[in-house]
Amino acid sequence: MSECIPFGRALKPYFMLDEKYVSVNNASSGVVCVPAFQRHLQLLEESEKVQDLQTRYRLPKLAEKTMDQLAELLDTSPNNLAFCFSATQAISSILLTFPWIANDRILTLNLAYPTCQFAVDFVQDRYDVQMDTIDIDFAYDRSELLSRVESYLAKNKPRLFIFDFVTSMPVIQLPCKELIQLCKKYNVISVIDAAHGIGLSPLSMSSLDPDFLYTNAHKWLNAPSGTTILYVSKKYHNSIEALPISYGYHIRKQKSPPPAPLNARFLYASSTDLPKFIAIDAAIAFRKSIGGEHKIQNYNYDIIIKGAKIIAEALGTSYFVLAPPIAMVNVEIPLRRMPSAEFFEYFWQSKNTFLRFVEYHGKFYTRIAGAPFLEESDFVYIAGVLKELCQNSPEN
Ligand SMILES: Cc1ncc(COP(=O)(O)O)c(C=O)c1O
Repeated sequence: MSECIPFGRALKPYFMLDEKYVSVNNASSGVVCVPAFQRHLQLLEESEKVQDLQTRYRLPKLAEKTMDQLAELLDTSPNNLAFCFSATQAISSILLTFPWIANDRILTLNLAYPTCQFAVDFVQDRYDVQMDTIDIDFAYDRSELLSRVESYLAKNKPRLFIFDFVTSMPVIQLPCKELIQLCKKYNVISVIDAAHGIGLSPLSMSSLDPDFLYTNAHKWLNAPSGTTILYVSKKYHNSIEALPISYGYHIRKQKSPPPAPLNARFLYASSTDLPKFIAIDAAIAFRKSIGGEHKIQNYNYDIIIKGAKIIAEALGTSYFVLAPPIAMVNVEIPLRRMPSAEFFEYFWQSKNTFLRFVEYHGKFYTRIAGAPFLEESDFVYIAGVLKELCQNSPEN
C-alpha cells in the first residue's frame, strides 16, 4: 500500500468497519485492519485443511517470526515475550501462579482495570497476601504521587506493585518509568498493565525495564482480537506458569533451565488459535505501509484533540487530555444519571456508534480514542449524537 493515502475517511476501507459505523471507542476492542483480518482467515483456512501438519510444524515457525517482529517493536529479546489471549489471562497467570510467601503485600492503584483487580482480590482471598491501594485522580500531581508511592514502598516493603501504563476509564497516564525505578530502589517487583500500550505509544522494554508488562495488540496495533503480548524479565521467567496449567508446566519441569521456554509454555498450555497471533505480522506491515508508528501515533493524537474540542464545545463541557502521543481523551457529558442498559442498547444501535460512560467524582465522562480512519466530521456527528442522548435520556 502507498504512504500517499491520506489519513481519515480514505483509510476507512482498510479497516474492518462497516462503512456507516462511526468508531470512536477504538480503545475498547480495537479495530483490526483488513490485511491482518485476511491473513488470519487465510491461515485458518490453510491450517484447517491439514490441521496436524500446520499446528505442529508450520504455524509455530510463523508464530516465532511474528514474535521476532514484536520483539523489535518492544525493544527486547523474543525470549522475554509470550502470547496470551487477553490481558486478563496475563495478569491471572502472573498473580495466581506466583510463589507467594505468607504476609506478602501487593500495592495497587484505585483505577486498576476491574478484571486485573479481581485477580488481586483472588490472591488476597486465597493466599495469605495483603493488598493496599493508593488513590489517584485525573489531575494528580506527578511528584506528589511519586513521593506517596515512595513512602509506601519504603515503609511497607510490598512484594509487588501493579499499575497501569494508561488507565482505562477515566483515562490517566502514569509516570511509568519513574514508578519502575522506585520499585527497583525498594526491591519491589513491578507489574505493568499496558493493555493500552503497543501501537499507542513507543514502548521500550530495554529502557523501561519492568519485571512484568502485558500489552494488547488488538487495541492499538490493529491486530486480530484477543492478541496480548506478555513481557517477563529474564529474572522471573521461571517464577510464573501459563494458565491453564498444562503441558507448559510439563515443558518447564522437564529441563531446567529450558532453552527458550516462556512463549512455548504459554503457546502449548491449551489449544489455541495460532493464526490470530501470527497475523499480527500483517498489522505491523500495514502500519508501516501507511507511514509507520510515529506518523500513526501523531495523527491519532492530533485528531482526538480536535475531536474532543468539537464534542466539548457542542455540549458546553470540559475535556481532559493526556500528553502526546496518548490518543485518548476524557470528555465530560452533561448527564445527571446513567441511562439504563435498555435505553443504551436501542440508542447506540439507532445511531450506528457506541461509547462507554463512567461516573467519576459526581460527573459523567466518556472516553474517545484516535484512529487513522477518523476525521473531524466523525466528531461533529458524535457531538450531535451525544447532544441527542442527553436530551432524550429518560433519566436526565
Ligand atoms: C487498562 C486495561 N487493562 C486490562 C484490560 C483487559 O483486557 P482484556 O480484555 O484483554 O483482558 C483492559 C480492557 O479494556 C484495559 O483497558
